[in-house]
Amino acid sequence: MTAGESSAGPASLGLGASASATVSIGTPGSVGATRALLLGSGELGKEVAIELQRLGVEVIAVDRYEGAPAMQVAHRWHVVDMLDPVALRAVIAAERPHLVIPEIEAIATAELAAVEAVGGTRVVPTARATRLTMDREGIRRLAAEELGLPTSPYRFVESEAELREAVAALGLPCVVKPVMSSSGKGQSVLRTADDVAPAWSYAVTGGRAAVGGASRAIVEGFVDFDYEITLLTVRHAAGTTFLDPIGHVQVDGDYRESWQPQPMDAATRARAEEIAGAVTGALGGWGVFGVELFVRGDEVLFSEVSPRPHDTGLVTLVSQDLSEFALHARAVLGLPIPAVRQLGPAASCAVLAEGTGVPVFHGVDAALERPGSEVRLFGKPSVAGRRRVGVTLALGSEVADARAAARAAAAALRVELV
Ligand SMILES: Nc1ncnc2c1ncn2[C@@H]1O[C@H](COP(=O)(O)OP(=O)(O)OP(=O)(O)O)[C@@H](O)[C@H]1O
Ligand SMILES: [Mg+2]
Repeated sequence: MTAGESSAGPASLGLGASASATVSIGTPGSVGATRALLLGSGELGKEVAIELQRLGVEVIAVDRYEGAPAMQVAHRWHVVDMLDPVALRAVIAAERPHLVIPEIEAIATAELAAVEAVGGTRVVPTARATRLTMDREGIRRLAAEELGLPTSPYRFVESEAELREAVAALGLPCVVKPVMSSSGKGQSVLRTADDVAPAWSYAVTGGRAAVGGASRAIVEGFVDFDYEITLLTVRHAAGTTFLDPIGHVQVDGDYRESWQPQPMDAATRARAEEIAGAVTGALGGWGVFGVELFVRGDEVLFSEVSPRPHDTGLVTLVSQDLSEFALHARAVLGLPIPAVRQLGPAASCAVLAEGTGVPVFHGVDAALERPGSEVRLFGKPSVAGRRRVGVTLALGSEVADARAAARAAAAALRVELV
């Protein structure tokens, strides 16, 4: 079958239909196949692809480079520059997916809006949500100014001089982030006036300025939080489900460890769910969202949101009967989300490789020795610089044991770059 011959009715996914519509899934490779196109094929996309495969969905993986993790478990794959609207349109036109599932932010999102407007393809969770969340300005203005949610104080700047003015207004310390960037790229904490110039040049070189044209950054007052959480929120055909809060540690704006559940008192947790419900409700659509929140005393501040599974949520691969990836697959297909069973305190620890070459993992046996410990090796084809290449996962009798076990498993692994 070629994509052009396929004619599966998107109505089989209840596109545009009521939430109570019957969901049908065709057979991969047949005329009736239900096709999902992943935009971004990293480790999170790989787990989503596996869950879609389990449900008999035809999975097409797209990324900028060959051999990306999700490509290794997809029916087929394409190498595409997803920031190029023409290339993006071409792959969607060729594959005619029922679902377009973004895994990354760096996508020509205006093109996704055009695809959604034509009909027949649903963008997950919505084209508007992908546009607003790819840009820190879009989501911050929505959350703080339209929804009135509490956030850090902030300003947007386009030059070193404007940054200097913003620092004077917000005070030190503060945090500078390019409006288009992720995983801490281009991001720095300013502690003294001398930090302004290097922070600006790092923001200019670290962001995806090519997308928006101009170099633009958000400056945020530094929040001295007690802890930060990701509140995974599932929007699905029958409503909204909040998962147990995930605590995490970030270094250089990149996640290193996460655990679930993060202990929270009932009132603070209720406030966190209220904020997560408001922001995900405003973004709309079906799927998992990772709502990032800072908690300081009994105050909860909104930080940002991913309209997709979150890296800190890798812990749900062992902590829940349905992981965030399984929940995403179900939600986007319009399938029921049952009450999620927590399997006990659990933790994840990122495995990083630094240098240049192709990873070889030594000590996998030692990392897996302890019952309840698991590893996921992503299969990334190469490393140049610092890259997350795996994650260790552990269950424990308490969060502290689980964290120690996940760290021990990560320490047992040695990544050689050949
Ligand atoms: N205003 C702030 N005050 C204090 N810490 C902050 C602030 N903003 C960000 N951070 C810290 O930096 C981390 C990364 O920031 P943020 O989530 O905004 O960037 P990111 O690049 O999108 O990261 P990721 O893609 O990994 O989620 C946060 O999780 C938090 O630990
Ligand atoms: Mg973040």
